[in-house]
Amino acid sequence: MAPTLTITEVRRTLKQVPLFHRAPERALEIAAAAVQRRTFEANSVIFQEGDVGEALYIIAEGLVKLSKVDLGGHEKTLAILQPPEFFGEMALLGEPARTASALALKQVTVYLLFEDDFKQLLEQYPTISLNVTTTLVSRLKGMDDEAQILSYKDAQGRVAYVLLRLFQNGVIEFNDDDQAYVRLTHQELASLAGTSRETVTRALKALETEGVIDTRPKEIIILDPQGLEEILHEIR
Ligand code: CMP
Repeated sequence: MAPTLTITEVRRTLKQVPLFHRAPERALEIAAAAVQRRTFEANSVIFQEGDVGEALYIIAEGLVKLSKVDLGGHEKTLAILQPPEFFGEMALLGEPARTASALALKQVTVYLLFEDDFKQLLEQYPTISLNVTTTLVSRLKGMDDEAQILSYKDAQGRVAYVLLRLFQNGVIEFNDDDQAYVRLTHQELASLAGTSRETVTRALKALETEGVIDTRPKEIIILDPQGLEEILHEIR
């Protein structure tokens, strides 16, 4: 069974979360007393697109994939989030239906902040409202960049963009040689890049030939992030 955490420990975790950046101590105390801790096993569904949203999720441990099914029935990965990021705020602020599904890629521990508590914090603490707005703006900018990349770049450019974004967002691990790698299948990368698995496999081969990555089963080692950036900015 998971150990029981004290409010002070929970507050320490919440303090790292962008939602509470520069929030007063009192706000953190209220949030720490209100949240509920929950664990999801690897590969389990946290919620589905269209479900009614009741709480915001703060990631304390693990990796969460947010994805949607497009009109053609293909899964599109919107983001892979890790601690101390949060998600699930949209259904509490607009239409109550979840705009995307959330899946635990590894075992995930989250803190749930339920709608009434979340809204009370937003009303009482403008810093928290501003932090939510900042997160939404940054997601919107990310989506604009992505829409541009996905419509103008060829498969190699798209895959370079996805790898670079994972690298820059810290969704990476390090091997014994201290090399950064992402642990994703070609299918998962295809879902992030909005293309097919076969196309991703070809694009990875081309990137490997250029010497910017190295591929292993289920692992892509990022040898040269600067080189990925250069490939991305070449007109293709
Ligand atoms: P909600 O709609 O409640 O549930 C799904 C969540 O995914 C949503 O809130 C946001 O927190 C998150 N989300 C939706 N779209 C994106 C995106 N493009 N990038 C990152 N996160 C997103």
